[in-house]
Amino acid sequence: MSSTIVIYSSKYGTTELYANWIAKELKADLKKISEVKSYELIYYDTVIFGAPLYIGKLHQYNQMLNTMMLYPPKLFLIFAVGLKDPSEEYIQVIKKQNNIEDDEVFYFPGKLDYQHLTLLDKFLMRGLKAQIKKHQSLTDEEQRILNSFNHLVDETNRQFILPLIHYVQKNALL
Ligand SMILES: Cc1cc2nc3c(=O)[nH]c(=O)nc-3n(C[C@H](O)[C@H](O)[C@H](O)COP(=O)(O)O)c2cc1C
Repeated sequence: MSSTIVIYSSKYGTTELYANWIAKELKADLKKISEVKSYELIYYDTVIFGAPLYIGKLHQYNQMLNTMMLYPPKLFLIFAVGLKDPSEEYIQVIKKQNNIEDDEVFYFPGKLDYQHLTLLDKFLMRGLKAQIKKHQSLTDEEQRILNSFNHLVDETNRQFILPLIHYVQKNALL
């Protein structure tokens, strides 16, 4: 059995896609957070957790922390998926907003299909739109968010996983 597992949370499938790519590349096991039992983690030295960002928060991150409490892995890393532009500054914001101190965090650009959002998510997105519309000039990122109301926005790319893959290959006992 592989000693690495990729565990993910995903509302609309984007994070699941990245989790699949990573698990394939590392020949790791793959599971949805809701299907993982705490005792199963005894088998793994490395746990990679992937989650989308919703209003700054990593979806189901607390559930991941609780699941890991019994058998903490030797190496734990996180990848976040969202619509913001990738940057080291945004990784620091994600860490701060989710109280992550020491764990390594990677960030991958995601996907948004407004037509397929739940009513609540549509409502939250409309709030964001109202905020953005107050701005005098728009950044590329804000423009992309506004575009997402009319078109599918898809920034996903397999290449984004490479820094995470290299990090695991360097630091994990594969
Ligand atoms: C209501 C709502 C809030 C969001 N908040 C953020 C956010 O704070 N930061 C960000 O980068 N992306 C944000 N996004 C974009 C999602 O993270 C992005 O669509 C992601 O690809 C969804 O992943 P999933 O398909 O795995 O659920 C938000 C999307 C919605 C609908």
